[in-house]
Amino acid sequence: APLKGGGQQHGKALEFRILAKQGRARASVMRLPHYDCRMPMFMPVGTNGSVKGLTPDQLRRLDCHLVLGNTYHLESRPGADVVEEFGGLHEFSRWDRAMLTDSGGFQMVSLLHLADITEEGVSFQNPTDGQSMMLTPEHSMRIQNKLGADIMMALDDVVSSVNPSLERFEEATYRTTRWFDRCLEAHERPHDQNLFPIVQGGLDYDLRQTSLKQLMERDARIPGYAIGGLAGGEDKESFWNVVDWCTAALPEQKPRYVMGIGYPVDIVVCSALGADMYDCVYPTRTARFGTALVPTGVIRLPLAGMEGDHRPIDEDCECMVCRKYTRSQLHRLVCKDSTGAILVSYHNVHYMMQLMKGIRESIVDQRFPEFVRDFMKKLYPDGA
Ligand code: GUN
Ligand code: ZN
Repeated sequence: APLKGGGQQHGKALEFRILAKQGRARASVMRLPHYDCRMPMFMPVGTNGSVKGLTPDQLRRLDCHLVLGNTYHLESRPGADVVEEFGGLHEFSRWDRAMLTDSGGFQMVSLLHLADITEEGVSFQNPTDGQSMMLTPEHSMRIQNKLGADIMMALDDVVSSVNPSLERFEEATYRTTRWFDRCLEAHERPHDQNLFPIVQGGLDYDLRQTSLKQLMERDARIPGYAIGGLAGGEDKESFWNVVDWCTAALPEQKPRYVMGIGYPVDIVVCSALGADMYDCVYPTRTARFGTALVPTGVIRLPLAGMEGDHRPIDEDCECMVCRKYTRSQLHRLVCKDSTGAILVSYHNVHYMMQLMKGIRESIVDQRFPEFVRDFMKKLYPDGA
């Protein structure tokens, strides 16, 4: 199979091929303008175009296929026009593999809690610098077309966790479809940029089915689907149910992206349910606070007990950090020296990428159930 990276030319902006299936889990390749991504895959978040603490060279070495950027942040600073002058987000961030941009509404609503949503779009005034931004579906598309990522997300109506009535979820579900139609109309680069819609509907079965049905009526113009509205701290049972309903209904031959998901256990479960793509700030953010990901869970490097611990983060990890540094040395660096944040970020992204490789290879080798069993046994040695 041809799996080369970097700027190849081909006719379609996305080609999706399933290599192997086991149960509902799939191992696949998604060919994008800048890279052939092997999936299931985890996409590190580079809010402003670059992943905090890691260079593009390091990300390549870690086997990262795609980096995610955010429309809201990039438009705030330096602005899409500036990024376009650089030649687009790839040139701007010096990352030549695939990129994806989120549409901006979610960041304004869920992270900043100060957005005003109307049928026209999402508006927001940043309290720290007074800057205001109105994101309509058309404006989000104009920005994302300038940024030039391989995948762009449609502007969706995200329900703030402050106001979760069923009526509000209903309004948001229907509006997300109307906004997707406006995004489709405004999208100017379908030949080399892919627009994914986002399934919404909260935790409600009927609303999710409505959202799925409405979006799938537009399937001919949809290269891949995202499942949204799940990164708000709902209990795992409800969250896994929603992913289950969505992956059961979505077309088999298109990629499926569960947004904002990054706990290893969630990624393993969602992959078993037939999802292909994940993103989350968790592995890199938690690294900056000194938390390292390991098969048994996490290790908190700032704890006093680490001071005299001369083992690596993970004896079985083959990353550069685990080969060179002990927990004791890292304990002295984390939260004090930016080198500590860099080293733990490196290990954590390595952990995520190896996890994804393990998932993919076990599906290809038809031993995914055993992989899941081993993963769960290490994480929960006493059952549960
Ligand atoms: N990131 C995590 N969840 C979501 C969502 O529901 N919508 C968007 N646009 N981004 C997200
Ligand atoms: Zn390591």
